[in-house]
Amino acid sequence: MKVLLIGANGQLGSDLKKVFAAAGDGVVALTHAEMDVRVSDRVAVVVGDVQPQVVLNTSAFHKVEECEKRPELAFEVNASAAMNLAQVCQKAGATLVHFSTDYVFGGYAHHTPFEETDRPAPQNVYGVSKLAGEYLIASNTDRYFVLRVCGLYGIAGSSGKGGNFVENMLKKALAGEPVRVVEDQVLTPTYTVDLAKAARQLIHTGKFGLYHLSSEGECSWYEFTRYIFECAGIKANLTGCKTGDFPSPVKRPAYSVLSKAKLRRVGLSIPSWQDALPRYLQERAQRDATAAPSVKVTA
Ligand SMILES: NC(=O)c1ccc[n+]([C@@H]2O[C@H](COP(=O)([O-])OP(=O)(O)OC[C@H]3O[C@@H](n4cnc5c(N)ncnc54)[C@H](OP(=O)(O)O)[C@@H]3O)[C@@H](O)[C@H]2O)c1
Repeated sequence: MKVLLIGANGQLGSDLKKVFAAAGDGVVALTHAEMDVRVSDRVAVVVGDVQPQVVLNTSAFHKVEECEKRPELAFEVNASAAMNLAQVCQKAGATLVHFSTDYVFGGYAHHTPFEETDRPAPQNVYGVSKLAGEYLIASNTDRYFVLRVCGLYGIAGSSGKGGNFVENMLKKALAGEPVRVVEDQVLTPTYTVDLAKAARQLIHTGKFGLYHLSSEGECSWYEFTRYIFECAGIKANLTGCKTGDFPSPVKRPAYSVLSKAKLRRVGLSIPSWQDALPRYLQERAQRDATAAPSVKVTA
């Protein structure tokens, strides 16, 4: 399968590249510096040159606080560029795989996992712009997978957010800092390796459409942090707190767990967040073990 990957050195992009290449796919991987999705003519030329069967679009403007201040940019990257990609893919006969977010929900109280058919109600500019992207894709191509994902962490760390949650928690604990984490936001943290593998399997079903794709299970950020320290064998000064303890101009969903019932209906599954985290920590340890030791040059 010939694949064009956009946002290749991002957190998810890095694992998509590894997973698809390891499975034998020909991957043309482009970073932001090599192709800006907002430049529609360039996108059309690149797709015309590469002639991919599948385009994986991980690009996004997803710093949620920044999106509130710069809604035009949020809509440019997350909605208009997604629409252009859909049009270009439709013309080229390529399948577009686009990543959306659990933040399309949150505007009304909910306590069971959201289905794809549940009414979206984004609470912030980021969520609205991503939802607009979903609609613009669906109305411009019939060969698409829109995958709503949630709480990503992967070895590359999110370039858009500066690291990932697991790394930030480990860093604080190892520095001996007290760690306060919200216990009233419930979600599903998701390992990008598991996500990349499941996305590839889903593409192979040929069953286009909108899917929820995050790890199985649910937890609060506090519960996730407690599990991080437990698995890493770290004694940390961890306490739970409420969202209101960290005043923010951005509203975030109190509950944004995504149901995988539709994924199961097409015969697929994804591991739980409890299963994924130890594997992430293992990957991280292997990376550190194989990192080249710094060489001290003496005269
Ligand atoms: N991270 C999460 O927890 C989370 C949760 C829900 C949904 N998502 C969605 O999942 C996807 C992947 O997230 P991620 O964590 O892998 O983010 P990431 O690490 O920030 O990756 C995004 C990639 O897109 C690139 N990019 C940004 N603007 C671009 C543009 N205009 N043209 C071309 N490339 C551009 C970035 O490059 P530069 O860094 O060089 O700009 C980066 O390589 C995004 O669509 C995001 O909305 C993420």
